[in-house]
Amino acid sequence: MSKSKVMNYEEITSKNVFIINCKDIILREFRLEDLDELYALTLQPEITDFLPDWKATKEQRKEWLINFHIRSNKEFLEAVPNIQDQLLFLGIILKETNEFIGWCCSGLKDELPSPNREIAYAISKNYRCKGYTTQAVQGLIKYLFENTNIEVLNAIALTHNISSNRVIQKCGFSYISSIEIESEEFYYYKLSKNERSNRHKEY
Ligand SMILES: CC(C)(COP(=O)(O)OP(=O)(O)OC[C@H]1O[C@@H](n2cnc3c(N)ncnc32)[C@H](O)[C@@H]1OP(=O)(O)O)[C@@H](O)C(=O)NCCC(=O)NCCS
Repeated sequence: MSKSKVMNYEEITSKNVFIINCKDIILREFRLEDLDELYALTLQPEITDFLPDWKATKEQRKEWLINFHIRSNKEFLEAVPNIQDQLLFLGIILKETNEFIGWCCSGLKDELPSPNREIAYAISKNYRCKGYTTQAVQGLIKYLFENTNIEVLNAIALTHNISSNRVIQKCGFSYISSIEIESEEFYYYKLSKNERSNRHKEY
């Protein structure tokens, strides 16, 4: 990573970039400067074996970053609190190094019954099993339930994706059923705003 790219937390917030602050990581809206790090992540088979749709050439990635991800984020953030079908794409940034180590997103999953807003995520093979994705997903859930009209969140994970199922369970989602999508078997979970706030009252 070039030195000029490294921004500290204060610099990021002062530049009016949307962030969600978590313990060891921040979630930050995608920027064009993320291209190299985002592209490098999408070359990891440890990610794309589970998320083949993220495979792309660097040119395609740049085009999607500008015309899809960054544009979608603007539309989402302008629509808050009245979210309908807008999409949100946030990078997972390690506070200690400012490295872009993954992503955590929210959009509509066409294959699920309505209300079908889901949370999806991936993290570099080099930063797994440190709780960072759990922090990211918990941070995004808190933001969405406290700042938007979203009342229900969905999550799915391939039945054999042990760590993804574990992240979903650790974030308080309830198992609904197994579901087949494009000939693959997923576990399907939901979390409602009420369920989450009732659970918080218990502690
Ligand atoms: C799924 C993924 C995001 C998890 O990220 P992560 O940062 O490692 O997740 P966390 O550290 O927050 O939690 C992982 C949990 O899985 C557990 N886990 C991981 N591998 C495991 C295994 N083989 N057996 C049992 N538990 C396992 C960890 O111990 C941890 O649980 P714990 O805190 O109770 O110990 C990451 O593996 C990834 O990017 N995978 C590829 C993309 C992907 O699958 N995305 C989700 C699509 S549905």
